[in-house]
Amino acid sequence: MKHFQISSPLILEARKESDWDGNFLLVPIAAPKNNTPEKPGKKIGDTLLLTGEETQLLISLGMTEKISRKTIRKAGEATAKWLIAHQASKVGLRATAFDDFGIKNALDAFCEGLLLGAFSFDLHKAKRDDIERVNVHLLADRDISRLQERITRVTAIVDGVNLARELSHEPPNVIIPVSLVERVQTLASETGLKCTVFGEKELTEMGAGAILSVGLGSKTPSQMIILEHLGHGARAEEPPVVVVGKAITFDTGGYSLKDTKGIVGMKFDKSGGMVVLGIMKAVAALNLPIPVIGIVAAAENMISAEAYRPNDIIRSLSGKTIEIISTDAEGRMVLADALTYASTELKPRAIIDLATLTGGVLVALGKVRAGLMSTDEGLAEALSAAGERTDERLWPLPLDDEYFLLIKGNDSDLKNSAGIPLASSIVGGTFLKQFVMNDIPWAHLDIAGTATIKKTIIGPRKSTGFGVRLILDYLEGL
Ligand code: BES
Ligand code: ZN
Ligand code: ZN
Repeated sequence: MKHFQISSPLILEARKESDWDGNFLLVPIAAPKNNTPEKPGKKIGDTLLLTGEETQLLISLGMTEKISRKTIRKAGEATAKWLIAHQASKVGLRATAFDDFGIKNALDAFCEGLLLGAFSFDLHKAKRDDIERVNVHLLADRDISRLQERITRVTAIVDGVNLARELSHEPPNVIIPVSLVERVQTLASETGLKCTVFGEKELTEMGAGAILSVGLGSKTPSQMIILEHLGHGARAEEPPVVVVGKAITFDTGGYSLKDTKGIVGMKFDKSGGMVVLGIMKAVAALNLPIPVIGIVAAAENMISAEAYRPNDIIRSLSGKTIEIISTDAEGRMVLADALTYASTELKPRAIIDLATLTGGVLVALGKVRAGLMSTDEGLAEALSAAGERTDERLWPLPLDDEYFLLIKGNDSDLKNSAGIPLASSIVGGTFLKQFVMNDIPWAHLDIAGTATIKKTIIGPRKSTGFGVRLILDYLEGL
């Protein structure tokens, strides 16, 4: 049995072509206008194995007019699945293989696809598939070290995505707030990131009542986990970018209980936090010059005699009081204190939060785009552009002041839900906005739709790691 630390057996390496003694070459081609027996079909990722003097696996990139980084990435994903299914090893790919298609960084996109497509989550299967390592060698006759640098960069990014996916997949009896802390401490010691954990004692002393309230019904208390990357050179002096993630290790809804159908899959309610961990792992591996801080706001939303209930009034870290209307609107409670902490203690240049916050974003945008709400036009534009480049697409939703009327408190400063099904994603964003202080540019990404996919209606739900590549693209561009 093989255990890969991250559930991905594919390894990329640069090699000198003249010394290469591998088994066969990957050859990307545009789909033929008419299907011919010796060419793969029109569908992106269709393959055809040609044997002869030089064995080649032809891979369709789809129709010429439609070839883009996105389709090339998709072809890479399909290729990885083929290579794993066929237990391929020592496969070559010429670094020039995409030169004819006129797409910038096509090779990087294909490599990204290969590494993304190789991920599967099978840590808990008694009989794990007998997966062998798949080595893919990128071949060139010169500038091997430059090529290796490109591969190392893409590998760092996708390792971040696959870490986010793996942790999101972990079941809720394995990942609870305290076991998550242990995982993050291991990650910190492996990467050199600085890790600070605020547990029950610290959160109580700080007055972080909002994040604590969500964990009251759980066997283990809420945790605020902070990972810091310091940056280097002159740029290390710049204010940090802070990335905050919602990490509800399981969301039952609490006393505002979810129904039998709605509760399944709520282990994925920690996706935002796991994406933050993936980002931080990659930020460390890429050794970005700028300081970046990740905050994971973790809690388990359960029911017990200790659990918070509707009509409770909670005092948050900001001092603002919140009346609970729905215990199922718990994500905004844990994020409220994390956003307050970020904006008052960390002096950031920007705060970005990622959260599976509302079912409403599924209604509005489906599983194609995540909702983007922001107080800063420049930040929103930069994130949208990064989303288009990485194919982790966003769409803006407004935050007009009038929406606040829906959550203006009666007996408290504010309510955690409008209590009526009106603009629920925007109301969620409006709530969070109240906890970002000092006019700090802030953006909220509601990833409730995009954090998971289902290939078919009955197929299993899978974590996408949505947001890791997007945020890294944004950070690399700063
Ligand atoms: N974790 C859910 C949101 C969610 C729903 C994520 C479906 C993924 C799939 C969140 O905590 C929640 O329950 N939100 C409520 C908020 C409401 C009570 C204001 C919702 O969207 O219904
Ligand atoms: Zn909820
Ligand atoms: Zn939730």
